[in-house]
Formats: sequence, structure tokens, C-alpha cells
Amino acid sequence: MQEITILDKTFSLYLSEAEIAGAIDRVSALVAHDYKDAKPVFVVVLSGAFMFASELLKRVDIPAEVTFIRVKSYDGMQTTGAMHSILGLDMDIKGRAVVVLEDIVDTGLTMKHVVEQLYGAGAASVDICALFHKPAAQKTNVIVKYAAMKIPNDFIVGFGLDYDGYGRNLAGVYKLKQ
Ligand code: IMP
Ligand code: MG
Repeated sequence: MQEITILDKTFSLYLSEAEIAGAIDRVSALVAHDYKDAKPVFVVVLSGAFMFASELLKRVDIPAEVTFIRVKSYDGMQTTGAMHSILGLDMDIKGRAVVVLEDIVDTGLTMKHVVEQLYGAGAASVDICALFHKPAAQKTNVIVKYAAMKIPNDFIVGFGLDYDGYGRNLAGVYKLKQ
């Protein structure tokens, strides 16, 4: 499929399944090497990271635990703007090396709050591993240590990422047509 329509918008093919797999191969090898002896906890951010996480974790063949969280965003009255609380962290991560698996880092606000809360829960270290990173959109100083792919500031869907709830199940990644 070169072009697809989701709800009211048209998207064109941006990355094939094979291209995504190649990028995940590369980032997985880095993570597997760096965390070989660390017995890390992979914290998968639902829903967007589900497909990336399953592909990455199959390739990161080291002793590790896997757990899942959701991030609830809400506009508080604080001057800091939107807050992002983590929900469902049911594992004790005190003293553990944590790797957050996220679909995409855009402004970086979500990851900033997630990293702070994981340190607050006692993590010894927290690194971010994202399928996509939009460096030009980033508004925080959060460090994306592992990015499978750096992309321009375009809106994309597929491979876990959605447009208004749809498109997560697409095997390729599609870019919004302007
Ligand atoms: P941030 O807090 O601005 O970094 O936003 C990150 C979240 O926004 C991601 O976890 C996605 O859920 C969503 N997001 C950002 N860019 C895109 C995109 O291009 N397509 C789909 N979702 C996106
Ligand atoms: Mg997300």
C-alpha cells in the first residue's frame, strides 16, 4: 500500500516493514551489548510501544525483566503545564537499571516526566530507547540514548503509532500528506 486513508486524512508510505526491522536490528544490538550484565528492567510505555517492544525484546537476548506502564496526561494548574503520571508500575525497580521503551519522542515532555518518576521510584539508572526521535521538535533536555530512527518533524502512523486511535496495527509506517 503506497497510500492509505485513516479517518479524514491521507498518509503515504514512509518506511517499509524491512526498513523498520533493519533499524530495530541495529538499536537492539547496542542495547544488548550495553546491558549484557546489568539484568535490566524494560519498562514498555503502552499503547504505542507494544509492537516496537516485542520486536526489540526478541533481539535483546540477555537476562532481563519486562513490565508495562501507561502514561496519563492531564493539564494541571501548575505553571509547568501538562503533567504526565505513570500508571501501572507494579514492579519494584529500586536499585535497578531501567530501559524505557517508547514509540516516539516528540517534544520530550512525556519522557521527561516518566524518567523523573522512575528515578523517584528508586531506579539506579534510566535510559530511553525509542523507535523514533524527532530532534527538531524536542523542547526538553531529556536524552534519548537509543533511537532506532531519527526523523523530521512529520506526523506518522503505523507500527504502534496511531492517528486518533487508528493505524497502530499497520506493519509499515506512513507519513501524513500535506
Ligand atoms: P512528547 O511528550 O511531545 O514527546 O510526545 C510523545 C507522544 O506523542 C508519543 O508517545 C506519541 O503518543 C505522540 N506522538 C508524537 N508524535 C507523534 C506522531 O508523529 N505520530 C503519532 N503519535 C505521535
Ligand atoms: Mg505514546
